[in-house]
Amino acid sequence: MSFDRSIKIAPSILAADFANFGAECAAVESQGADWIHVDVMDGHFVPNISFGATTCKAIRPHIKGVMDVHLMIAPIDPYIQDFANAGADFITAHVEAGPHIHRTLQAIRGAGCKAGVALNPGTPASAVEELLDIVDLVCVMTVNPGFGGQSFIDMTAKVRALRDMIGDRPVHIEIDGGVDPKTAPLVAAAGADVLVAGSAVFRGGSVNNPEPYGANIRAIREAI
Ligand code: DX5
Ligand code: ZN
Repeated sequence: MSFDRSIKIAPSILAADFANFGAECAAVESQGADWIHVDVMDGHFVPNISFGATTCKAIRPHIKGVMDVHLMIAPIDPYIQDFANAGADFITAHVEAGPHIHRTLQAIRGAGCKAGVALNPGTPASAVEELLDIVDLVCVMTVNPGFGGQSFIDMTAKVRALRDMIGDRPVHIEIDGGVDPKTAPLVAAAGADVLVAGSAVFRGGSVNNPEPYGANIRAIREAI
């Protein structure tokens, strides 16, 4: 996987049909998705439960491209190997999830995955300043994590600060939460290159009628 800063659309399967993840992943990929974003929630770090590593492993064979696993769990370290074994390409850990984020990120890379670090809306860019040499991705949350379909919280100043801080390092900036054709241009202009979108991609379509997924993805791309 070579690094580039072109815009990548990463549909979040949190907005897909939970009884049909495999087909949903194949459908959005065939409709132009670049990465598949997989939201893992534990009902402890965030006030909602989604699914775990077993589900990720079941989904993996249905994804041709990048599987981007966003862990909203605490603790993280006991589960890293499970998500690596499930075939995650990226594993993203929240900086707020524990006192030893540096160790967690080292363990993610040690398990053979790309390491991401996520920041909640209330966490400043400076929280990841000492981590930029050991990560492949910084995820800026533009909602408080836990649920899909929430409205976008403007974090463009934080994105700009991170873009400056990152400089020439091969580190992606990902935006997660409330991304749609209205909000995507703001964060793309500020320096983000990976745009997660759940509701804005999956609305109006289904595995039997996937064309709306393609139209929704194109609408985000064209708005940028
Ligand atoms: C929020 C999740 C997001 C979310 C995105 O906790 O991490 O990935 O599902 O969904 P939308 O695009 O609907 O805000
Ligand atoms: Zn997410």
